[in-house]
Amino acid sequence: MTSAQKRSDSSTAKAPLTEASRARLTEIVAELKRREADRLAAQRFDWTRCGRPDQHAPGGSWRTWLILAGRGWGKTRTGAEWVREQVMLHGARRVALVARTAADVRDVIVEGESGILAISPPSERPTWEPSRRRLTWPNGAIATTYSADVPDQLRGPQHDLAWSDELAAWQYPDAWTQLLLGLRLGRDPRVVVTTTPRPTPIIRQLLASTTTHVTRGRTMDNAANLAPQFLDAIVRQYEGTRLGRQELDGEVLDDNPGAMWKRESIDASRVRTEPQLRRVVVGVDPAVTSNASSDETGIVVAGIGHDGRFYVLADYSGRYSPDQWASRAIEAYRTHKADRIVAERNQGGDLVERTLRTVDRNAAITTVHAMRGKALRAEPIAALYEQARVSHVGSLSMLEDQMTAWDPASDAKSPDRVDALVYAMTELTTSGARTVNTAAPAAIPVRIAESF
Ligand SMILES: Nc1ncnc2c1ncn2[C@@H]1O[C@H](COP(=O)(O)OP(=O)(O)OP(=O)(O)O)[C@@H](O)[C@H]1O
Ligand SMILES: [Mg+2]
Repeated sequence: MTSAQKRSDSSTAKAPLTEASRARLTEIVAELKRREADRLAAQRFDWTRCGRPDQHAPGGSWRTWLILAGRGWGKTRTGAEWVREQVMLHGARRVALVARTAADVRDVIVEGESGILAISPPSERPTWEPSRRRLTWPNGAIATTYSADVPDQLRGPQHDLAWSDELAAWQYPDAWTQLLLGLRLGRDPRVVVTTTPRPTPIIRQLLASTTTHVTRGRTMDNAANLAPQFLDAIVRQYEGTRLGRQELDGEVLDDNPGAMWKRESIDASRVRTEPQLRRVVVGVDPAVTSNASSDETGIVVAGIGHDGRFYVLADYSGRYSPDQWASRAIEAYRTHKADRIVAERNQGGDLVERTLRTVDRNAAITTVHAMRGKALRAEPIAALYEQARVSHVGSLSMLEDQMTAWDPASDAKSPDRVDALVYAMTELTTSGARTVNTAAPAAIPVRIAESF
């Protein structure tokens, strides 16, 4: 190459871009970015490609698709994708979306990371009107959201498709009955149930039905799509435990033969609403540390009725910082107009009462130092259940899981929700025994189990 040629090449390379060519270049880059974004979005929304085989609806003439799987398996995503497919491709027009509480329907089913809005590509995305509890798809299909906490919402409306999330944790089985009664539009109304399993009467009934198709799955099946922190925390919490077979492996557990409580006896005395109560106590078993692997703080509310029976009203337990558990306990105390909070101070000492007092200076608080073994303290309370003198108001699923799983012979450390229950009940039996005529005939509980 001559030096003249070299000069001319370098001058071409350095020639400034004209306005027009710069604008054109910007356009080309933007177009490439758009195409790449579309390609990624198409991949993300392509459930036929990324859904695992068992996350796709089975063929055949089932009425209920029952998905029993461990935490994080992809239950919610599968439910949302099924609804989307039915609405877009198979003519579903009136859909019922039901979760345990109004907050769950909104935060999980509709707005959650695996919920309907997130998994719908923009062109198919329904409009969400929270005040009307309604999703409307561009093709005219409508879904209404319901909270299983308010079974009456489901009395009357009719649907051709339904999705029930975490059915095994619903507090009122009546919501399921009402949902099925309204599932009567179209030629082939169907429902998908996505839930971590529990041996509740409804789950057992569905498992026994010939019109149910059952899919089972483990948390680890979806490990590739779970945040490592979530996977670590949940595996650490449950691995090797009996409840781990339910929470991680999606197994429906039978009663533990060594457990102090039997699910059947809890179910048999369950009532729908709380009666007039003469005394209410909040039991608290506080966790002393607060980090991802800390124990839960047990917070359970129980009362004694004018009929002399005991009622377990609510379970606010969870993994909380000290400020948080104190606020939750005081909130429970106020909500249920409780007479007293009873809190264990074996670990936290004086700090337990002080922490509660920072939230409410005037609350009636007793702290107890548990001297006897956990099993010894729990025995008289378990005996009351055996005598059918204790009713749970609605279903308190996580508390009941712990009650029916804990075997004192093989696990000396009792679960936190059970401890909180035992504190509240012990306080009621000792303070109530002086005034309550336990010889009075017990009221016959309204059996929820018989209502469906
Ligand atoms: N096949 C899949 N491909 C990619 N991501 C998936 C797949 N299945 C599930 N996920 C993602 O994995 C995560 C967990 O899924 P999801 O929330 O549906 O699980 P879950 O079983 O309902 O969990 P939980 O027990 O907490 O209710 C979500 O981010 C979801 O979008
Ligand atoms: Mg879920």
